[in-house]
Amino acid sequence: MDPLMPPPVRRIALDRDPHVAPALPIPDAPAAAEPASASARLRAARAPVGEVRERMMIESVWLAYGENWVVRDVSLPVRQGEVLALIGASGSGKTTLLRSLNRLTEVTAGAARSGRITLDGQEIHDLEVNDLRRRVTMVFQQPNPFPMSIFDNVAYAAVERPGGGRRRRRSPELATAVEDALRRAGLYDEVAGDLDRSALRLSGGQQQRLCIARALAAQPEVLLLDEPCSALDPISTATIEKLIVELRESVAIVIVTHNLQQAFRVADHVAFMHLGELVELGPSEQVFDRPTKSRTRDYVSGAFG
Ligand SMILES: Nc1ncnc2c1ncn2[C@@H]1O[C@H](COP(=O)(O)OP(=O)(O)O)[C@@H](O)[C@H]1O
Ligand SMILES: [Mg+2]
Repeated sequence: MDPLMPPPVRRIALDRDPHVAPALPIPDAPAAAEPASASARLRAARAPVGEVRERMMIESVWLAYGENWVVRDVSLPVRQGEVLALIGASGSGKTTLLRSLNRLTEVTAGAARSGRITLDGQEIHDLEVNDLRRRVTMVFQQPNPFPMSIFDNVAYAAVERPGGGRRRRRSPELATAVEDALRRAGLYDEVAGDLDRSALRLSGGQQQRLCIARALAAQPEVLLLDEPCSALDPISTATIEKLIVELRESVAIVIVTHNLQQAFRVADHVAFMHLGELVELGPSEQVFDRPTKSRTRDYVSGAFG
């Protein structure tokens, strides 16, 4: 080829799901041919968790908008002591399923559900909705701080929790609860000098960490994270991932992520969804390194290739 010719353009079809062919084995490089070692290198060292306990059960759940069933017969356990990652192409129903866990899908007109979702054995529809949403807290893809100070954003959630109502504004206990939540979300050092600043003046990454601090201040039992790092820089992302892994000891965590390496870094179990169906559920190592379904293999083979 003429050395001055530009390289051939590779066209990517955007109307199809990404498909990456499985890598061919390289005979002289056994380490590279062993997929477990490739994924294991990305995995952060994690402290073992004392006890794994089932907190929520999703049983044969179907979810629809109008006539359109976008989650189909999904059954999944949500366990404390573990991080569960929901992965799958855009539109596969991950957000809809996540929002159903604290009854946020009800807010959408025409949304319907069948099947059973329980928290500690109780059907979530039999729980008082505000109580449910305090126990099962959601952090959205787009940070949504309240238009108030950094302190008040977190204090608001801290006083909402049981026994929190009697805390006086700026009482030492409240200030400690706010500081603790900001520290856990990895934001405190950046904002400690001016907690009265409007939360809306923080950067996107700081706003998201504030939203996580606000969620933690409510002391939830289940934390739902919908692509929480998609607006974050790599340093904030690393802070949040470390936090997620630590928190799983005391909070059951479900994270939706389109970042497969992130799913591998933080999750103990991975659920792969496709067109509303749960295709595969298993320990992260199994889903990424030894998927049982060809659809899963196609989807995850891009992660470590
Ligand atoms: N508020 C809504 N009204 C109608 N259809 C919706 C609504 N939200 C999502 N959908 C549809 O439901 C399907 C699943 O969407 P979603 O749960 O957001 O998937 P994911 O989070 O996996 O990208 C998509 O086809 C989407 O267009
Ligand atoms: Mg989504």
